[in-house]
Amino acid sequence: MNLIAILTGASSGIGAAAASRFVDNGDTVINISRRTCPVAGVDTLPTDFTDESSVASTCERLIERLASHEDSPICLVHNAALMLKDRCDTTEDDNLRQVLAVNVVGINTLNRALLPKMPEHSSVLYIGSTLSEKGVAGAFSYIVSKHAQLGIMRATCQDLMGRGIHTAMICPGFTDTSMLRRHVGHDESVLDHLGTMNSFGRLVAPEEIADMIFWAHHNPVVNGSVVHGNLGQVEH
Ligand SMILES: NC(=O)c1ccc[n+]([C@@H]2O[C@H](COP(=O)([O-])OP(=O)(O)OC[C@H]3O[C@@H](n4cnc5c(N)ncnc54)[C@H](OP(=O)(O)O)[C@@H]3O)[C@@H](O)[C@H]2O)c1
Repeated sequence: MNLIAILTGASSGIGAAAASRFVDNGDTVINISRRTCPVAGVDTLPTDFTDESSVASTCERLIERLASHEDSPICLVHNAALMLKDRCDTTEDDNLRQVLAVNVVGINTLNRALLPKMPEHSSVLYIGSTLSEKGVAGAFSYIVSKHAQLGIMRATCQDLMGRGIHTAMICPGFTDTSMLRRHVGHDESVLDHLGTMNSFGRLVAPEEIADMIFWAHHNPVVNGSVVHGNLGQVEH
């Protein structure tokens, strides 16, 4: 059965690696982000999650496209995210709104548009973070949004009982992508240090998380679970 993988944020990092994994399997892959997906064969619907009209028009285009594939299972991967450096005592409401638009509201808009069209054997996968289940200083709006995503995944599991659609949250640890590099100011010594904070002394590779995404789609037993991919993080 031809699978349609719909990934947000597959223009780079974990999303691009996951797109490549699905393409290698012969699946149809659609990316939703502002930039194009670099993987050959992936169709990008240019979208800015901070712009409601952009997301609405993408939903319309997706529905049109799915009309000719009614019985194909869908793997919807909510992966796009915005991470700011901010704190609980100084964050401007507009900055919090922007992070929630990308990391939370965009998920809801896509789910509302696509879930009624998703047949049995489909999945909705959420890319969370270690910070979906714990807090650290200096990443306030991101932590708020990543905890909200966990709530969305758990509600998805309960609301879709019996539909034959499963869900899960995959929580990467420190993964070598542009998001992490930007967050540490492209400082190689900080990246090296982050790599020492797990049992294997290196950063997670985006392809390792891509494999987890692929596996989670094909294994509905994972329904409702939080699965961490962090090489065994050192806890303080
Ligand atoms: N890297 C890590 O260490 C790490 C750790 C834990 C969790 N994660 C999670 O892993 C996921 C993927 O992140 P990554 O590390 O692969 O980072 P990345 O390479 O920076 O990818 C982030 C993606 O989000 C998209 N995005 C951001 N703002 C957007 C907007 N306004 N509209 C549409 N798309 C937008 C970007 O696409 P455009 O710029 O093209 O729009 C990009 O494709 C995220 O959910 C992140 O929270 C990463």
